[in-house]
Amino acid sequence: MTDSVSPTQPPSHDESVERVERVERRWATIAVTLIVLLVLLAIFAGVHQATLPQSRVETVDPSTLHLAGEFIDSNLGSTVEPDGSVTVRGIGQQYSFTPQCILVPADTPLTFRMTSADVVHGFLITGTDINLMLVPGYVASLPARFSTPGERAMPCHEFCGMGHEGMWGRIKIVDKATFAQMAAAAKRVSCVK
Ligand code: CUA
Repeated sequence: MTDSVSPTQPPSHDESVERVERVERRWATIAVTLIVLLVLLAIFAGVHQATLPQSRVETVDPSTLHLAGEFIDSNLGSTVEPDGSVTVRGIGQQYSFTPQCILVPADTPLTFRMTSADVVHGFLITGTDINLMLVPGYVASLPARFSTPGERAMPCHEFCGMGHEGMWGRIKIVDKATFAQMAAAAKRVSCVK
């Protein structure tokens, strides 16, 4: 039996070179495209960030916290706003939180407004994504909401000195009706005994 198809010849040297060059050109095109894409992304991200309004930075004088302004002692704790939401104000200091026990209603929009009186502290509510850095001189503000009543620990999670380990607080989430009763009796609510 004769084979009418001529056996394939091994590619000549010139053909091999040509094929290799083609493959290399293809990969070079992919690499250059990727680089151009990344540069465009970086430019877009940079311009986008530069043109956005800067996040609101609020400052506060840490040396007069207890004496005047928003974080004066009588203004700490939870307070009901005209729109029904609740604002929680608190201070972190070596080595405690004021108030030591925060009381909030469940199923209500909350805003935490916290600051530090001395060094950087951490404010974290266990089992939630509520996590703030309390930096002296600045107000840390965060919206939050708890769906169910309960009690959670509130440790300082930023090393702040020798007493850091002992810097803990608690947050108590009560149902709306209970909170409303307590809020009717006092302007600022907390669960500090
Ligand atoms: Cu405050 Cu650690």
